[in-house]
Amino acid sequence: MKAVVYRSERNVAVEEVPEPRVQDPRDAIVRVTTTNICGSDLHMFEGRTSVERGKILGHEVMGIVEETGSAVERIGIGDRVSVPFNVSCGTCRNCVAGWSSFCLRTNPGAGVQGAAYGYAEMGPYDGGQAEYLRVPFADFNLLHLPAGRDFEADFALLSDIFPTAWHGCAMAGVSPGDDVAVFGAGPVGLLAAYGAMLQGASRVFVADKEPDRLRLAKSAGAIPVDISVADPVEAIVSSTKGRGVDCGIEAVGYQAHDSSGQEHPELVLDNLVQVVRPTGAIGVLGVYVPEDPGAGTEQARHGRIGFDFGTAFSKGLRIGTGQAPVARYNRQLRDLIVAERAKPSFIISHEMDLSEAPEAYERFDRREDGWTKVVLHPGV
Ligand SMILES: NC(=O)c1ccc[n+]([C@@H]2O[C@H](COP(=O)([O-])OP(=O)(O)OC[C@H]3O[C@@H](n4cnc5c(N)ncnc54)[C@H](O)[C@@H]3O)[C@@H](O)[C@H]2O)c1
Ligand SMILES: [Zn+2]
Ligand SMILES: [Zn+2]
Repeated sequence: MKAVVYRSERNVAVEEVPEPRVQDPRDAIVRVTTTNICGSDLHMFEGRTSVERGKILGHEVMGIVEETGSAVERIGIGDRVSVPFNVSCGTCRNCVAGWSSFCLRTNPGAGVQGAAYGYAEMGPYDGGQAEYLRVPFADFNLLHLPAGRDFEADFALLSDIFPTAWHGCAMAGVSPGDDVAVFGAGPVGLLAAYGAMLQGASRVFVADKEPDRLRLAKSAGAIPVDISVADPVEAIVSSTKGRGVDCGIEAVGYQAHDSSGQEHPELVLDNLVQVVRPTGAIGVLGVYVPEDPGAGTEQARHGRIGFDFGTAFSKGLRIGTGQAPVARYNRQLRDLIVAERAKPSFIISHEMDLSEAPEAYERFDRREDGWTKVVLHPGV
């Protein structure tokens, strides 16, 4: 089959690889109909992870069940399904507690709890930017979707970023009437802003420097804050009469940079500590890593990010972090899509053939104008 593989820094290729097989009676094989490129993939693309050469990439996947292992009961051949990016067992202590992103069974020994498809340090699982994907613990992991092709683009966002965005709102404690600040207007930040509005926020500020992404934030009903023309802290604090927002969402990650492109891994955390009012909360969705060989300082190379924790403590802020447990939210968000109360696909800018993945990676990575989110269709 064809799959997107990591070759080296800024070099991915569509290669011929063996098709996945059922390895365990609880596995299913999914024929991929849509798979997306994620901002998380760009950390690998840019050579800022330990991902190994030859790894099949991709963790945002949906499709049709092609084959099931003998122990799979709930999922049948021909079912249309969404694959959460977390590979989880469903029965360990963390999974049972709703933390499928910290499964104790699927990535043992890595020093990192939790597993994902096609990702550095997240276990041995092949990715889904491919024609087929093996899904372990299929009964637990797969989410049923209505048969047919309806809502394909919306459902494609159920693997990761729509539930992830929702989790950011949950960690930030978004409540009706709140003012919310979202940093980062990539796909995750845009859907976090959208999710906050669905949850009843009154005003959502979205900070970034990319004009096309800020325009999209505005068209979704948020208040864009262009960090290249104004200090986002001043802009947001003055718009809230000096009080600050009720909560904040970090959708940037450890490669946060100023508007000249200079990286400052603490920048967005500092900004959020300043704009969130005392006793508010911050949900950190953007990825931070324990080891970053490409970081600018010795401290940051080992994941030590010096941000203004003193002010955070003085303000009594709560901070949530980590990979999102997709299974906690994906059913409800699927039903919001089916009921046409949510349409997250407004962020999708490009639908391309899997064979065009290398070009798509390059252009999405450059944050080229209009390249907000790319979905790929294998075998078209
Ligand atoms: N926690 C999770 O489960 C989870 C899931 C998916 C993605 N992520 C992470 O979320 C982050 C965002 O993902 P994405 O797909 O939207 O990626 P993206 O790279 O497309 O978006 C990041 C955006 O942040 C902006 N940015 C950079 N510095 C900034 C600053 N100082 N202030 C404001 N904006 C700034 C960039 O211009 C860009 O538009 C990534 O780190 C990704 O790895 C986490
Ligand atoms: Zn993703
Ligand atoms: Zn588990």
